[in-house]
Amino acid sequence: MGKVALVVGATGLVGNELVRILLSAPEYEKVIVWVRTSMDINHNKLEEKIINFRELDKHVIDKSVNHVFCCLGTTMRKAKNMEAFATVDLEYPVVLAKKARERQVSQFLTISAMGADPNSKIFYNRIKGQLEEELKKVGLPGLHIFRPSLLLGKRKEFRLGEKAAGAAYRVLPFIFIGSIKKYKPIHARTVARAMYRVALTEKHGVNIYESNNIAKMT
Ligand SMILES: NC(=O)c1ccc[n+]([C@@H]2O[C@H](COP(=O)([O-])OP(=O)(O)OC[C@H]3O[C@@H](n4cnc5c(N)ncnc54)[C@H](OP(=O)(O)O)[C@@H]3O)[C@@H](O)[C@H]2O)c1
Repeated sequence: MGKVALVVGATGLVGNELVRILLSAPEYEKVIVWVRTSMDINHNKLEEKIINFRELDKHVIDKSVNHVFCCLGTTMRKAKNMEAFATVDLEYPVVLAKKARERQVSQFLTISAMGADPNSKIFYNRIKGQLEEELKKVGLPGLHIFRPSLLLGKRKEFRLGEKAAGAAYRVLPFIFIGSIKKYKPIHARTVARAMYRVALTEKHGVNIYESNNIAKMT
């Protein structure tokens, strides 16, 4: 019997790459996605459920699901305020993790960020740090937290910071040496591939992957 994955945040940069990897992976027989809008992918292994995330709590994870991948996230620009940002980057992933634990899902994988720290003065890092702390309390059998640096990849929308940093990286890749090597941008596909590989290990406990290690995992 193949494995069943649930991907939430499947329409995002990492989520989209991950869904494509899982659909072509022989280890997975089904890939369920909870999305706001259709991914427009036609594949016999894909089961798409369009949901209202404001009612995330009401949705039930199918009993067949072995692995839950959470690739949710927003930006302050989109969320407009801190509360709405925290809803997407903190509240939803924790709700999902609790659902995963109730269903005895063996592996829960999520994306935090480099610099995650619950005591950080930087709001983004603080929310990511709080996310990690809350997830650790859930008591999942296998919790995997990925802390990528800046993500590279083709986005539908324009994000100036990412574009500028991505361009700088392409022109000056050699600057990421020594102590700043860990800040090297990472491709969304690399993060997605690492998530896929890690899930299959069925490793238990809390596991945190820093960006430079994620890059070495694929
Ligand atoms: N960008 C970076 O350089 C970077 C660096 C380190 C860590 N990260 C983290 O990595 C994770 C993945 O990043 P990404 O760039 O792949 O994300 P992304 O492309 O912005 O995609 C985010 C996903 O979350 C969903 N989402 C956003 N707001 C939502 C809402 N209100 N309700 C329901 N779903 C919502 C999006 O759905 P829709 O398509 O429907 O909007 C999409 O599927 C995020 O947690 C991010 O913070 C990013």
